[in-house]
Amino acid sequence: MNGRRDAGFLLGLQVVILFGHRTVNSVEPPNIISRSEWGARNATGPIKNLSVGPTPYVLIHHSDTGGCITQALCQAKIRLIQNYHINVRHWGDIGYNFLVGEDGNVYEGRGWDKHGAHSKFYNSKSIGICIVGNYTRREPNVAAVRATKQLIAYGASIDKISATYTLLGHKQTAPTLCPGDKLYELIKSWPHWSPTT
Ligand SMILES: *[C@@H]1O[C@H](CO)[C@@H](O)[C@H](O)[C@H]1NC(C)=O
Ligand SMILES: *[C@@H]1O[C@H](CO)[C@@H](O)[C@H](O)[C@H]1NC(C)=O
Ligand SMILES: *[C@@H]1O[C@H](CO)[C@@H](O)[C@H](O)[C@H]1NC(C)=O
Repeated sequence: MNGRRDAGFLLGLQVVILFGHRTVNSVEPPNIISRSEWGARNATGPIKNLSVGPTPYVLIHHSDTGGCITQALCQAKIRLIQNYHINVRHWGDIGYNFLVGEDGNVYEGRGWDKHGAHSKFYNSKSIGICIVGNYTRREPNVAAVRATKQLIAYGASIDKISATYTLLGHKQTAPTLCPGDKLYELIKSWPHWSPTT
């Protein structure tokens, strides 16, 4: 082996080791459908940035509507939710940072960096995730649960969510039945759920 090839081999080896190291530590993102893919309207004006990052809280909501098990149905429902939040509630945009469907997809709402409109005292310091459906009498399906947990783990891995985040259900932060009794019971078993706010 000549010197140059040797050096090339060593460099290659280093790259493989570095790459391998990263792969071991990285969390795969869930499948995130962008706003343009689901046909979002633009926000009606500028949306404030979150006041802290990475955020110390993750809040779980349900949409209290019917669920959706295909991307086409989820997109249609999410467009209706956005219309309601903009036209009726006057929130400027869909209120959540992300939504999750029982099709197993995550849908981008305001995204990782923006102030939400989903729970008054937590909008500036949390990622609000809404699972589309009514989870008063039933749990979300396995695909939705997997996607939600993966989104949270991914957010923590890219430093958008604090490594020591607290997971809460909406009803812990405001007088509401959201995220529904069954989903609320379920999230009590998830990592970082806290009985106190
Ligand atoms: C939405 O915003 C983008 C980027 O600011 C702009 O290019 C686009 O024309 C806007 N769409 C509408 C419907 O206003
Ligand atoms: C919001 O954050 C982005 C970077 O994430 C930055 O470019 C932008 O200036 C910030 N906007 C405000 C109003 O602070
Ligand atoms: C959600 O489900 C509960 C229990 O079936 C029902 O009482 C409630 O009206 C539903 N919510 C809506 C908005 O339909």
